[in-house]
Amino acid sequence: MVPTIASPLDLGAPAFVRNRALLKWVADIVTLTEPSSIHWCDGSEEEAAKLSHELVNKGVMIPLNPELRPGSYLVRSDPDDVARVEDRTFICSVNEEDAGPTNNWRDPDEMNAELKGLFAGAMRGRTMYVVPFSMGPYGGAISQVGIQLTDSPYAVLNMRIMTRMGFDALAEIDETTPWVPAVHSVGFPLVTSAGDRIDDVAWPSNSTKYICHFPETREIWSYGSGYGGNALLSKKCFSLRIGSFMGKQEGWMAEHMLILKLTSPAGRAFHVAAAFPSACGKTNLAMLQPTIPGWKAETIGDDIAWLRPGPDGRLYAINPEAGFFGVAPGTGESTNPVAMNTVWGNTIFTNVALTDDGDVWWEGMTDETPEHLIDWRGQDWTPDSGRPAAHLNSRFTVPIEQCPTLSEEWHSNDGVPLDAIIFGGRRATNIPLVAEAFDWNHGVFIGATMSSEQTAAAEGTVGELRRDPFAMLPFCGYNMADYWSHWLDMGKTLGGKAPKIFQVNWFRRENGKFLWPGFGENSRVLDWICRRVDDEAAAVDSPVGRVPAEGAINLDGLDVSNEAMAKLFEVDKKMWSDEVALTDEFFDKFGHRLPVELTDELVSLKARLS
Ligand code: GTP
Ligand code: SPV
Ligand code: MN
Repeated sequence: MVPTIASPLDLGAPAFVRNRALLKWVADIVTLTEPSSIHWCDGSEEEAAKLSHELVNKGVMIPLNPELRPGSYLVRSDPDDVARVEDRTFICSVNEEDAGPTNNWRDPDEMNAELKGLFAGAMRGRTMYVVPFSMGPYGGAISQVGIQLTDSPYAVLNMRIMTRMGFDALAEIDETTPWVPAVHSVGFPLVTSAGDRIDDVAWPSNSTKYICHFPETREIWSYGSGYGGNALLSKKCFSLRIGSFMGKQEGWMAEHMLILKLTSPAGRAFHVAAAFPSACGKTNLAMLQPTIPGWKAETIGDDIAWLRPGPDGRLYAINPEAGFFGVAPGTGESTNPVAMNTVWGNTIFTNVALTDDGDVWWEGMTDETPEHLIDWRGQDWTPDSGRPAAHLNSRFTVPIEQCPTLSEEWHSNDGVPLDAIIFGGRRATNIPLVAEAFDWNHGVFIGATMSSEQTAAAEGTVGELRRDPFAMLPFCGYNMADYWSHWLDMGKTLGGKAPKIFQVNWFRRENGKFLWPGFGENSRVLDWICRRVDDEAAAVDSPVGRVPAEGAINLDGLDVSNEAMAKLFEVDKKMWSDEVALTDEFFDKFGHRLPVELTDELVSLKARLS
């Protein structure tokens, strides 16, 4: 017999919860989804230990060898639930045009009706967890609170790492605090509508998936997936899609950016934010180990930045998150030693391989490949199995406070003032190693016209070049052209105090090989960028932006030929005129909403190329 929870009185909410709208919402979702119990998450160690224990007993999580990886677990997802599902992601604005041509749109009333059908009884036989969380420090000027209702204890454990989760966040919500409601179900009830039991599986999910956003009412509904951005609703759904729309309304910005603090040999501190598409190097750059002497790099964020003009008129940034949900493959001692030191313990690994001594492994973690592994699907694996041992989008979830290079300023309520904003993508051709925008509007044009080769972070064709404006293609919660207008407006607000804008490309190739060594050597490019901020490094104009003058990038001790350096900055007129023609077509999609400033920038670029 499944107990039914009929009235808010039975919700078991902590006594300090006074917000009636909140209690009514929880009661409504309980009535709709019919969970067998409710658990209000306090965020404590004990709570996490108890949940972990339950998941281990059920065989959902595999505890790793405590001597090699203390407090850590491996989880294997369903092979059909391994990444964000962009074609199942919807912006349900009242008007279709407000979602714009780059988003999937559904009418909010129709979507609501469909969701009510899917969520009806969806949590039968499961516990519904009430997960209150704060994005940013409690009480911070740029912070926001939300509540996720979920039937996935795996999501709860991840949310506890990724956000400031628990009763402290719940206590932030009094009668007047705005908060974002987010409902999540894996869509796998354990009891049928007729009352029959269904056996649970290690990774419950549903082949029908919906990741829905209602920007006008600031609501999130996610159904059918337990993985990453589909299920940790604080991350892409709230912090980017709903956040970007809130920012447009309220005069701030929600961006897919890392935040890095750099201190020069002279002791001058710089703060930079950089937008790269998914799996294009944000975590790597956020954990940079400079190879040029004297520079110090400190991590503030690796995926999301909220930006807001401060009282002094400068642009301030916070990382609203409290953890990393980082790409595992390609992370190793030689490419990202800081990440390797961060995941020493207390980490949830999803879809990586298991070693015979109870540790984890993935491609690129070590130079030597183990002789035998259990792969991400739970099958025996040897180096000649002919398939990757870890899924390409396998990830680690780890508290940011374990990062050895974490900056004190991650804690700052007010955020850090930005000196530079960087855009980058995975481009085999055309885009130079580094270029500085001529001014803010040109920088917005560079962001708006970004393309990048697709990665395994979402379902789709890996390697295919696609437009990914501001690295926000999958994450902008409203019409992309209006988002560009918002950027142009922010430039006007910031005026002379706006950060300088740059573009970088670590991925330029010749005969399939990277021309630039990347990783720690990227500090050479950042050194030039920082010296440009202070007008100390020489630059020359190219058609696509200001590039380093001969000798202006510090290449001491680096083994990159003059030829390769020339190729890294080559602007091929023919290829660029093709690129410009494609930009024309791309801009056409946005019709009358395209800001005229961007048309002007395209005209200027054409003139510079001819
Ligand atoms: P999301 O978490 O999906 O938003 O991605 P991210 O941008 O944080 O991705 P991450 O930093 O984890 O990028 C991972 C991939 O980029 C790995 O395959 C890395 O090897 C590769 N990568 C990062 N930096 C460099 C670089 O400087 N050069 C080259 N060639 N590859 C890089
Ligand atoms: C991304 O895809 O950009 C991520 C991973 O950061 S996920 O949280 O799954 O969206
Ligand atoms: Mn991301």
